[in-house]
Amino acid sequence: MPFLGVGLGLLILTGSSCFVLGAFYEHCDFLRNLHELIQEDPYAFYIREKLYATLQLFNPNCLHRMPDSCSRMSEIMKYGFPGLDDIRVYSDFVLSYDRRNRVAHWVYEHLRAPCVKADGTNINRKECWYQPDMSVPSNFRANLTDYKNSGFDRGHLAAAGNHKCHQTHCNETFYLTNIAPQVGKGFNHDAWNQLEIYVRELTESYGSVYVCTGPLYKPKRQLVGIATYSEHTRPTDEKWCVEYEVIGENTVAVPTHFFKVILVESKMSGGHPYMEAYIMPNAPIGKNINIRNFLADIREIEHIAGLQFFNGIRRSFFFGTNYSTTPEIYNNFQ
Ligand SMILES: *[C@@H]1O[C@H](CO)[C@@H](O)[C@H](O)[C@H]1NC(C)=O
Ligand SMILES: *[C@@H]1O[C@H](CO)[C@@H](O)[C@H](O)[C@H]1NC(C)=O
Ligand SMILES: *[C@@H]1O[C@H](CO)[C@@H](O)[C@H](O)[C@H]1NC(C)=O
Repeated sequence: MPFLGVGLGLLILTGSSCFVLGAFYEHCDFLRNLHELIQEDPYAFYIREKLYATLQLFNPNCLHRMPDSCSRMSEIMKYGFPGLDDIRVYSDFVLSYDRRNRVAHWVYEHLRAPCVKADGTNINRKECWYQPDMSVPSNFRANLTDYKNSGFDRGHLAAAGNHKCHQTHCNETFYLTNIAPQVGKGFNHDAWNQLEIYVRELTESYGSVYVCTGPLYKPKRQLVGIATYSEHTRPTDEKWCVEYEVIGENTVAVPTHFFKVILVESKMSGGHPYMEAYIMPNAPIGKNINIRNFLADIREIEHIAGLQFFNGIRRSFFFGTNYSTTPEIYNNFQ
């Protein structure tokens, strides 16, 4: 699966150079090769603006500090991109931005035990500020005014507490591209926080954990047609509808639900990874809930969100075709 998609593929293949589109985990090499190509090949040099425009999917930091942040990116994205819309690379997480909704489609993190420990020596949370990401074009950008007095929290998708190894990592989780409107009491402070803590705890047992978090705009059955009676629409017809609030002048969408897809690698050599998924409604669920009640089928998330997880590898190879959403597999996982 070429990571950069057909657009760039064609762009490059119409050039005079043969340029190999690698699999997603090879695109650090890809960037390095691109730099070389631009230096060596007049056609590539000529279309370099276009190439970079397409590559604006990469954070400029990534281009400048290539070796570090790019190998980090290939690590984070080891299991493939769930989608390729407006990819943005930060120093410790990667996201796909939904310009229409002004909330990310998904945010991918790779958590490691030392960076989720709360010793507080590396970072100062007081130095982290919520701020709009100015690299997003202004007409698609959420800003602080949108959230102000909206009644919703500025909820992190990549949790700040997952990125404690470096002040910059923590800082970047406060960009509004990584933020979504969340119900505060009973959700962000409680049930959702509990799920985030659970994910961090997994790193203690397994060392390294991959987690993908995002919003859902989930259809529900509703009575419609009461005001628009016609031959075909009886007054009591039920139809599937998607309904969600938008806040502020920039109309930032309030997701109806949030999901997390979690992947844990086996400690046994050659062992298969273990995967599970959660869906929680963006609602005051409460405190001290049993998060296992929110286990979900990953295929439902894919269907609603239009994403595909682990498409770079054969999912059935790892998880079978009839994998369960019950906790037993987790209990047996080593
Ligand atoms: C937020 O965006 C709106 C609409 O573009 C704009 O009117 C407002 O001034 C912005 N607020 C800030 C603090 O930038
Ligand atoms: C983190 O953000 C704060 C406030 O924007 C800034 O003062 C500080 O320099 C940033 N630190 C790093 C390491 O990026
Ligand atoms: C899938 O697994 C469930 C529970 O283990 C079982 O009841 C069901 O029949 C299985 N479906 C198929 C198609 O094998």
